[in-house]
Amino acid sequence: MRRYRDHALKMDREDPLSHLRDNFYLQAHKIYLEGNSLGLLNKQAEARILESIQEWKDLGIDGWLSARSPWFWLAEKVGTKMAKLVGAKSGEVIATGGTTQNIHTLFSAFYRPDERRRKIVADILSFPSDLYAIKSIIKLKGGDPEKDLVLVQSKNEKHLAESDFIDHLADDVVIVWISPVLYQSGQLLDIADIAREAQSQGVLVGLDCSHSAGVVPHTLHENNIDFATWCGYKYLNGGPGSTGFLFVHEKHQDQEPGLQGWFGYKKRQQFAMHPSFDHEPGAAGWQTSTPNILSLAALDGSLDLLNEVGIEVIRKKSLLLTDFLMECVQNMLLPAHKDLKIVTPADSARRGGHVSLQHPAARLISLALNARGVVVDHRPPDVIRMAPSALYSSFQDVYNALEILKVIMDDGNLEQYDRGVKWVP
Ligand SMILES: Cc1ncc(COP(=O)(O)O)c(C=O)c1O
Repeated sequence: MRRYRDHALKMDREDPLSHLRDNFYLQAHKIYLEGNSLGLLNKQAEARILESIQEWKDLGIDGWLSARSPWFWLAEKVGTKMAKLVGAKSGEVIATGGTTQNIHTLFSAFYRPDERRRKIVADILSFPSDLYAIKSIIKLKGGDPEKDLVLVQSKNEKHLAESDFIDHLADDVVIVWISPVLYQSGQLLDIADIAREAQSQGVLVGLDCSHSAGVVPHTLHENNIDFATWCGYKYLNGGPGSTGFLFVHEKHQDQEPGLQGWFGYKKRQQFAMHPSFDHEPGAAGWQTSTPNILSLAALDGSLDLLNEVGIEVIRKKSLLLTDFLMECVQNMLLPAHKDLKIVTPADSARRGGHVSLQHPAARLISLALNARGVVVDHRPPDVIRMAPSALYSSFQDVYNALEILKVIMDDGNLEQYDRGVKWVP
């Protein structure tokens, strides 16, 4: 134990990003390991929100064109900042909607089933909302989700193999939908391999990057990914219910959006108020409604911080944190607790930004951790997720959290933490 505590101290002393912690509002007496669910507020985001409120006070409607960052172009500006973090060109990313909403928007245009091609390949471990959206789109387009949605299965309910996606590609598939990092296990998939094979078979590739954007480098443009979306409130620290992002590859810049609205209209002619729709080329044309400026302001500030650090540096520290977390679990907990397992791959090339532990009493263990100030989450039935953030977590946070977990597990009296709130399995 002492060895790991000393190692944490040494890693913190040598951490070139340790000063960034002061930019974040960390809760007193808590260890926050939920950066993959809701990133914490940072001072850059706060300053931009406050600035926008002041501009609203001072300028009223003139803020659309006269704010320091005119609101009319803020979604595009934030999209450009985001593009750098995911290996995209600036016109390929727009800040808009939410992830589920963006899946509807993207599939409305890219899912064009015909007699020959009508299937969508996704996987059983996808975030459920993705599957709800995809099934509803199949129905809206006159299909039957039972036949038209092919779900890649998992051999162990936690992991997937790229070859399983590739094996399902065929000339009757329209789209393959993949999450580069699986929300439950934190497994990172090799998207480039699947994308190459899909493209050779004329299958479009769509991604849900919610658990990878801002923590894992992407090469969306270079990999020829057709379209993607992700949340703004996780590793991007855009705040609760933050505006999300939508990516459409440059090769589709003339593709007419399926769901159309006036904020996707040719930007410079939007206020001509023409009755028929003519979209702005690129991702901007996929907007529909007036953007939420306060939410975009938070992202505008927060993305400055991420870009200042750079995604490669973020990834490097994130892996050091999760390596250390897994090593501590391996040595401090697993020998005495045979029911506890690490489900996140040990190989760093296969790991996203969080670590998932599996235990039959995962729900109670996560309640116990929360009761003792370690903020983690439980994903039914048996997973506890821990996500140290490269921008605001320390190695001591990780060590201290695991020391608390050890006390909880060694004590074993978990029922005392049951607050009677149960998710129905
Ligand atoms: C992987 C993934 N996809 C989609 C969503 C849904 O996002 P939204 O509520 O923004 O639609 C989430 C939410 O946590 C998620 O983790």
